[in-house]
Amino acid sequence: MIQDTLGAPLTLPNGQVVPNRLLKSAMSETIGPLDNRVPETMKTLYGRWADGGIGLSVTGNVMIDRQALGEPGNVAIEDDRDLDELKLVAQAGKRAGGLIYVQLNHPGRQVPRFLNEDAVAPSAVPFGPKMASSMAISRALTDAEIEDIVQRFATAAHVCEQAGFDGVQIHGAHGYLVGQFLSPLTNQRTDRWGGTEDHRRRFPLAVARAIRAATGDGFGMAIKINSADFQRGGTSEDESMRSIQALAAEGMDFIEVSGGTYEAPAMMGARKKSTVEREAYFLEFAEKLRSSLQVPLCVTGGFRSGAAMAAAIDSGAVDMVGIARTVAVDPDFPNRLLNDGDVRVEIVPRKTGIGPIDAIGILDLIWYERQIKRMSEGRDPIPDEHPIWTALGVLKTHGFDAFRSRRAR
Ligand SMILES: Cc1cc2nc3c(=O)[nH]c(=O)nc-3n(C[C@H](O)[C@H](O)[C@H](O)COP(=O)(O)O)c2cc1C
Repeated sequence: MIQDTLGAPLTLPNGQVVPNRLLKSAMSETIGPLDNRVPETMKTLYGRWADGGIGLSVTGNVMIDRQALGEPGNVAIEDDRDLDELKLVAQAGKRAGGLIYVQLNHPGRQVPRFLNEDAVAPSAVPFGPKMASSMAISRALTDAEIEDIVQRFATAAHVCEQAGFDGVQIHGAHGYLVGQFLSPLTNQRTDRWGGTEDHRRRFPLAVARAIRAATGDGFGMAIKINSADFQRGGTSEDESMRSIQALAAEGMDFIEVSGGTYEAPAMMGARKKSTVEREAYFLEFAEKLRSSLQVPLCVTGGFRSGAAMAAAIDSGAVDMVGIARTVAVDPDFPNRLLNDGDVRVEIVPRKTGIGPIDAIGILDLIWYERQIKRMSEGRDPIPDEHPIWTALGVLKTHGFDAFRSRRAR
């Protein structure tokens, strides 16, 4: 039965027990104030998802450096200034028996120009013509700056542990800094951080080791990573498999597989029709990876029905399924899956029907952020809310600029 498969507990390598197989994948909340501190509304949001029955919640990406935000409204953890608020978020996220991990991120080059004019990256590689005008121009990091960023990941993880979170997840997917180091397209360094495949892998391995050194034994560490970048010259499936094995050896408690970058957004379904129909965009990759990996595996992207989720787990390819947009529309979806099994949430493109606005692209994403914001304010999402309200809301708050490539998920 679907309910039995999805409701089976899972023990992670660190001994933590996830009460079911449903993982809420990271969704940037974009509810932080201008000083990037932890808002009170974050507690309400994670309490809402906890009450909905999710087994393991991963927060939206939290930045490790206030000078390097990925999008407006990010929360940043640089030290313990928000420890009290973070404790409340952790408590709320666990109040129904599930686990909560914080996703840690540095955007590197993948940042809109209006947000950061001094973006840093492994190498100064410009974006292609479609995005070049809206994205920041980045410069290459120095060796000392790279070491500083590694330590920032560790500091943030230590603060998360103090606050009572169950673990942290390194955001190694979707073309952000960790992914930029891994990719031969964006990492053209010739020092110890680039050149060969092993050298490109040094940064994520260093981050993982630093987090392990800064946190206690039972604290969880995970990574979300691309199956592939789906970009010519980017990280391939074969190389990604080898990276995942190397990272697993650093003591990951689970690995979440996604794919794509800002320039090739495979994580949102921009892929083969057959893969989308099958619901799980990256399941084939997980199937290939499974035999060489002992660490619990999760695949995210495309799941809409209990039947497809249970089939993915029953196939033995994955241990957990990651869901994002469905729980932004219906935070009680996990409980409905666990009680009734054969239920689904449809995800439709959010279009206004007004050509020039829809052509701008990220309206869809902002529509979901709007539902997340509603939940953070103690309200219910509106699953059929007309996207025109999103468009008008954005124009009112940010003007036309906000529609430009604002973030990459
Ligand atoms: C509003 C929104 C924000 C997102 N923010 C993040 C993020 O901060 N970190 C991340 O790894 N993925 C992020 N994602 C991607 C999701 O975690 C997930 O990989 C993607 O939505 C595909 O899963 P789904 O088909 O279940 O929605 C975001 C997605 C949405 C819709």
